[in-house]
Amino acid sequence: MSLHLHESVSLKPFNTFGVEVKARLFAEARSDDEVREALAEAERLGLPLLPVGGGSNLLLTGDVEALVLRMASRGLRIFEDDGERVLVEAEAGEPWHPFVLWSLEQGLSGLENLSLIPGTVGAAPMQNIGAYGVEISDVFAGLTALDRQSGELREFGLEECAFAYRDSLFKQQPGRWLILRVRFALSRKATLRLDYGPVRQRLQQEGIETPTARDVSRAICAIRSEKLPDPAELGNAGSFFKNPVVPIELAERIRAEHADLVSYPAGEGLAKLAAGWLIERAGWKDFREGDAGVHRLQALVLVNHGAATGSELLALARRIQADIERRFGVALEIEPNVI
Ligand code: EPU
Repeated sequence: MSLHLHESVSLKPFNTFGVEVKARLFAEARSDDEVREALAEAERLGLPLLPVGGGSNLLLTGDVEALVLRMASRGLRIFEDDGERVLVEAEAGEPWHPFVLWSLEQGLSGLENLSLIPGTVGAAPMQNIGAYGVEISDVFAGLTALDRQSGELREFGLEECAFAYRDSLFKQQPGRWLILRVRFALSRKATLRLDYGPVRQRLQQEGIETPTARDVSRAICAIRSEKLPDPAELGNAGSFFKNPVVPIELAERIRAEHADLVSYPAGEGLAKLAAGWLIERAGWKDFREGDAGVHRLQALVLVNHGAATGSELLALARRIQADIERRFGVALEIEPNVI
């Protein structure tokens, strides 16, 4: 067996909230074979297997009675190139942002708006990561996953993944699929998406008239760094709630009282509300109780100022949910996986 199992391992370095809990068993898988070994080992020991990537979408509320498997496979390659459309494949354990930078260095565009998102390639399809007007479903070309029920490998195309806003088949069927590698269709000819939020304005401020994909990536890194805390400095899991989609009538009722409500069209009769706006307006921005808090610059981000437990962070989230429901009649859905 090439897999190394470790007992009673602190998961603090493996979750970006920096919550201190222990895993009963911990291992890192660098290949498909090691993933299979871990599954067999968990089965033999009668323990559940909990796969983790970068731990950036995870709230751990107690010690984990499981074999925690960190997906650590590495490898990036171009496997098809017609001079314009280029297919690339990345192993699940590749950290996301360095993968984006690698694609830009190859002269490829498509991932630039997704710069600086924490986490790994393998975790990206789970919640269809998205930012600044692009989701991975926009550039997705397929993935290979291990079916934990049958032990077989299975290839997924775009349609089968059921991608939606921060959602996918893999999120809907928790525990079934282990994503091993993901393919993306990128382009040598940049078609840039600059319309979302402050992207175009930022580039103009910098005096960039005809931006390249790399310029867009740099601008987005700058925008993100200004608003979103770096997990290495302040524990967090990015947006803690999804932006809620509500009937337009409800959005209009809120707007009647709060003219500055931020909302976006979300299809027939629906509006997507900026949850950060709701939470800020309810007075939670920069709130802190013990070490659990709300970020001072982005109310959608819960933060661990040091020694907050997962339960304390979850309790704070529940209070915010109840308050937003009471004030605005809007139900907020938690984004990270709560274990
Ligand atoms: N807003 C406030 N107060 C706040 C935060 C936001 O009023 O405290 C307002 C902003 O002024 C803006 C609007 O809400 O008008 C939207 O804010 P922002 O552009 O910061 O984006 P977001 O809707 O809060 C979403 C994603 C982020 C992604 C950004 C940019 C979700 C749950 N979050 O946040 O994704 O980076 O858009 O595309 O959809 C993540 O999922 O972890 C994440 C960081």
